[in-house]
Amino acid sequence: MKVYELKNVSYRYPTGEWALKDINMEIKRGETVAIVGPNGAGKTTLLKLMDALLMPTEGEIIFEGRPVTEETMTDHEFRQKVGFLFQSPDVMLFSATVLEDVAFGPVHLWGKEEGLKRAREELRKLSIEDLASRHPYSLSGGEKKKASIACVTSMEPEVLLLDEPTRDLDLKNRNFVLEMIRGWKAEKKTVVVVTHDLRLIRLADRVYVVNGRVLFEGTPRELFSRPELIERANLDVPEIVRLFHMLGLEEIPLSVEEAAEILKRWKKEP
Ligand SMILES: Nc1ncnc2c1ncn2[C@@H]1O[C@H](COP(=O)(O)OP(=O)(O)OP(=O)(O)O)[C@@H](O)[C@H]1O
Ligand SMILES: [Mg+2]
Repeated sequence: MKVYELKNVSYRYPTGEWALKDINMEIKRGETVAIVGPNGAGKTTLLKLMDALLMPTEGEIIFEGRPVTEETMTDHEFRQKVGFLFQSPDVMLFSATVLEDVAFGPVHLWGKEEGLKRAREELRKLSIEDLASRHPYSLSGGEKKKASIACVTSMEPEVLLLDEPTRDLDLKNRNFVLEMIRGWKAEKKTVVVVTHDLRLIRLADRVYVVNGRVLFEGTPRELFSRPELIERANLDVPEIVRLFHMLGLEEIPLSVEEAAEILKRWKKEP
């Protein structure tokens, strides 16, 4: 079952610039899909189109079999089903306290008492319950990011559109977000994630490289076996992958563990 279908989607900002041209894409239910590309490639624009915050200038977006229209923008069912984590947490935090921000959606959906209960529970899950009564503006970058993640997860969406969820986070919190996404993957939620984070890309079932257009669609392993594409996406080539290219090995490892296994075999019969 397809969650999203993008058919020849193009988008031009009112300033006249084409951010995206002729995008064809499919996202199936339960898939984790990474979208990568250089700065200004149109990745955020693409997620905004999928979240019905922008309407395509040309082409069509189908969500669960139905065309996305202006009405979708304010459709409660759609808003609950699809959670959008903005690239900048400041866009998502506008109340006097973190708790109010996180409770905003849930209170709307489930009423005040239940909404607040769920919001507190979400803060606890993210280990930021101590931030509940803080003013969002007084938070650090990483704390803001976690608070904005709580705003999304407290709505219990089925589809998650994540714009650079691990940016601004330290190692521990990056690991935390990675684990969270792994959990959603295991629960068969649909995840579309824009990222430059190699560890996140490795977690994806499929990757799209975008730069105004779709340059590549395939598995992370296929992407990492094509250095010229990684360069065009302005991604770092993982050290392990570089080493394997230097050694002239054809197999591409996605983790240090996999690399060790391949090298052990290679040592026996190079
Ligand atoms: N509100 C806007 N009005 C006019 N042009 C815009 C607007 N937002 C983005 N653009 C332009 O559209 C193009 C794509 O921007 P977008 O934010 O989608 O890129 P991105 O891939 O998310 O980049 P980044 O990696 O820097 O976040 C850029 O050239 C950008 O300058
Ligand atoms: Mg962006």
